[in-house]
Amino acid sequence: METTAVTFDVGAFTTEAREPWFAQFSEEGPHRLFVAELEGAFAGYAGSMAFKAKKAYSTSVETTIYAAPDITGRGVGRALYERLFSELAAEDLHRAYAGIALPNDASIRFHERFGFKEIGTYHEVGRKFGRYHDVMWFEKRL
Ligand SMILES: CC(C)(COP(=O)(O)OP(=O)(O)OC[C@H]1O[C@@H](n2cnc3c(N)ncnc32)[C@H](O)[C@@H]1OP(=O)(O)O)[C@@H](O)C(=O)NCCC(=O)NCCS
Repeated sequence: METTAVTFDVGAFTTEAREPWFAQFSEEGPHRLFVAELEGAFAGYAGSMAFKAKKAYSTSVETTIYAAPDITGRGVGRALYERLFSELAAEDLHRAYAGIALPNDASIRFHERFGFKEIGTYHEVGRKFGRYHDVMWFEKRL
C-alpha cells in the first residue's frame, strides 16, 4: 500500500489502528472476512462490508479482495472469492459492489470473471502520491 494506488490506504497500519476495520466483520451474517494461507504464510484476504450505513442498503455489500504480491496469479484470489460468495449465497443479499482504483487491469479481469459488470467511474476521487486516481465501480447480482 505504500508503493501502489490499488488500495487507497496510504501507509502501513498498526494492529490497534486496524481494529475498527476487523470489527465490522462477524463469523456469521453478510459481513464476512476470509484469510488465505499458502505454505504457512499469509496469502490474501476477501471480505464483504456494509455498502452504506442506512438500513435500506442492508441487502447490498461492498467486497474487498487482496492477494499478497508474491503469489498473485496462483489461484488464491479465486479461492477466496469462491468461498466468500458461496457463504454469501445463504444471506439476504441482493447486490455486491466493488470499487477498483485505476489502473488495475488484473482486478478488472478478475472481477469480470466473477460476474461483476462495470457500472461507472468516479473520476479523480482519491489522491495518492500526489496524483488523483479514478475508481471504477462494478456490480454483481447475488
Ligand atoms: C486482483 C487479485 C485479487 C487477483 O487475485 P489472484 O490470486 O492474483 O488471481 P487468481 O490467480 O485467483 O486468478 C483468478 C482470475 O482472475 C483473472 N486474473 C488474475 N490476474 C490477472 C491478470 N494479471 N491479468 C488478467 N486477468 C487476471 C483471471 O481471469 C483469472 O482466471 P484464470 O486463472 O481462470 O485465468 C490480485 O491480483 C491482487 O490482490 N492484486 C493486488 C491488490 C488488488 O489489486 N486488489 C484488488 C483491489 S480492487
